[in-house]
Amino acid sequence: MDLDSVSADLAALRAGALNEIAAAADLRTLEAVEARFVGRKAGALTDVLRGIGRLPSADRPAVGALANEVRVALEAALAARRAELEAADLDARLREDRVDVTLPGRPGPRGSLHPLLETNREIARIFGQFGFVVYEGPEVETDELNFQALNIPPDHPARDLQDTLYVEAPARTEGERLLLRTHTSPVQIRVMRSTPPPIRALMPGRCFRYEAVDASHGFEFFQVEGLMVDEGTTLAHLRGLLDEFAHALFGPGRRTRFRPGYYPFTEPSVAFDVECLICGGEGCPACKRSGWMTILGAGMVHPVVLRNGGLDPERVQGFAFGMGTDRIALLRHGISDLRYFLENDLRFLEQF
Ligand code: PHE
Repeated sequence: MDLDSVSADLAALRAGALNEIAAAADLRTLEAVEARFVGRKAGALTDVLRGIGRLPSADRPAVGALANEVRVALEAALAARRAELEAADLDARLREDRVDVTLPGRPGPRGSLHPLLETNREIARIFGQFGFVVYEGPEVETDELNFQALNIPPDHPARDLQDTLYVEAPARTEGERLLLRTHTSPVQIRVMRSTPPPIRALMPGRCFRYEAVDASHGFEFFQVEGLMVDEGTTLAHLRGLLDEFAHALFGPGRRTRFRPGYYPFTEPSVAFDVECLICGGEGCPACKRSGWMTILGAGMVHPVVLRNGGLDPERVQGFAFGMGTDRIALLRHGISDLRYFLENDLRFLEQF
């Protein structure tokens, strides 16, 4: 073993390795070539370096330098070939996986708001423009707030087991009876007791009545309640507000009217009618030939109710109104049966 033969070995190794590197057709082959020639454990170059110890010490630096040169050259060749192969690989993949941008796309399923929710939001938007703020109350309510505080006497037919779903639950206070609220009006009392006037409150929510289900009655339905309390609030304010509401929801120029009505918690009480949306007032089956459709009940808050809400009827007056969201949504969309709203049939819901 001498300098010349080691130099010759290195030169041969270098030439052989460069050949194989150039010939490697893929990355795996290239890795194998790398391991064989410059691998730290079993590479040919490492073998040569291990043999240096057997050379005369004067020759060692020269061989070391030469071996290093070979290593640098091989590593550069490996890196260059690797880059080439990687680029070729990417090209091939791009060619195979090419996306045809002219193909029609697959539309993702798109959700939409439930017509009741959408109607609810539209109602809140309109009253929001008049400064009404949304409040919510519980669906399980006390007999006190659902009936008593609203001036509904104990013998009133609405309290009948036939109409109200009572809840069997441990009462929090003696004598308290729980029920599923039959209207959103109890939230009026909650708002009056918690908010000093002026009050402009909108109270949407789910209500329940023990009722046979048909096209226009559900045992579960939605209402939106409104309440305004301030000094000097009058029926004229109510009328003006409801006109604005009806025009915003059903179109400007639609005639409206107040009819006398009765609710224990308002005095006077009215029914608010809008010109029939189907026939425009001519008279048709939808409006039972009257030309009008009733969209809500309303009135001036009864003094007893104001007092039950902790307010002084000598100082403040108020009006309240309540409407069935389901009915409003039926009218807006020309739907004939409110049972569709709770069936959640996608063929129905997808139309909105
Ligand atoms: N609570 C009444 C109902 O359920 C509606 C209403 C609300 C009437 C407020 C007058 C004032 O029919």
